[in-house]
Amino acid sequence: MEEKCKYIKEILKAINRPLPKLKKTFEAEFKLLLKYAKDKKVLDVGCGSGRPADKLVKHCKEIVGIDIDNQMVKKAKKALSKFKNAKIIKMDALSMSFQSNTFDFIYATYNVIGSRDEIQDKKKLIKEMQRVVKKQGIITVIYWKNNKPTTEFLKIYYPYVEGKSKSIYRFTSRASYVGIGVFERPAPSSIEKLFRECGLKKVKTVDVGPVWRATIGTK
Ligand SMILES: C[S@@+](CC[C@H](N)C(=O)[O-])C[C@H]1O[C@@H](n2cnc3c(N)ncnc32)[C@H](O)[C@@H]1O
Repeated sequence: MEEKCKYIKEILKAINRPLPKLKKTFEAEFKLLLKYAKDKKVLDVGCGSGRPADKLVKHCKEIVGIDIDNQMVKKAKKALSKFKNAKIIKMDALSMSFQSNTFDFIYATYNVIGSRDEIQDKKKLIKEMQRVVKKQGIITVIYWKNNKPTTEFLKIYYPYVEGKSKSIYRFTSRASYVGIGVFERPAPSSIEKLFRECGLKKVKTVDVGPVWRATIGTK
């Protein structure tokens, strides 16, 4: 547990210092999310430390962020504390306590869908998102395009990791920790298939800047 905390702390530092490629991706992501979130009731699944909800919040009618991790919930609460239309709740995305047909738009960014440890059943996640989105509402998951091992991939996207965050390398290279902080980069066809199996329509996948893609569907 202590190692997991250390890992999360390092990742949070890294997230705040992305390379230009990733910065461009964050900008493209914001544009995409804003298109669907403007003036709507929005759910951020696996909200992490509150990015990108902290920017979207000004444009939404209401935004709720959920995360399974205590540290993340604490961070997100802090990041969004000054907004009356924002709420952060500790909740498992695989069994949400919201009623069906609650939100206009639901998103899960930054490869939440590829969290190998906590999201072992991707279909369950999409099914839950489909259940709590309103009819005609939109859901999207955003995930990495590339398919490199996590250690290599961290070096590419987070120069900060180089030298300073040895704990990440140690952590991700230890077989006993495979799962925690080790992410899959799923194939878009597999995600689109899950969307359709969960009853979503108008399913499509689009590029989100240079390094991410988004699969989008309508209930
Ligand atoms: C890579 S972070 C993404 C954070 C944020 N969405 C962002 O874009 O910066 C993935 C997040 O998903 C959360 N998560 C993983 N499985 C979850 C689950 N079953 N329920 C809720 N949150 C989960 C993790 O705790 C983590 O904060």
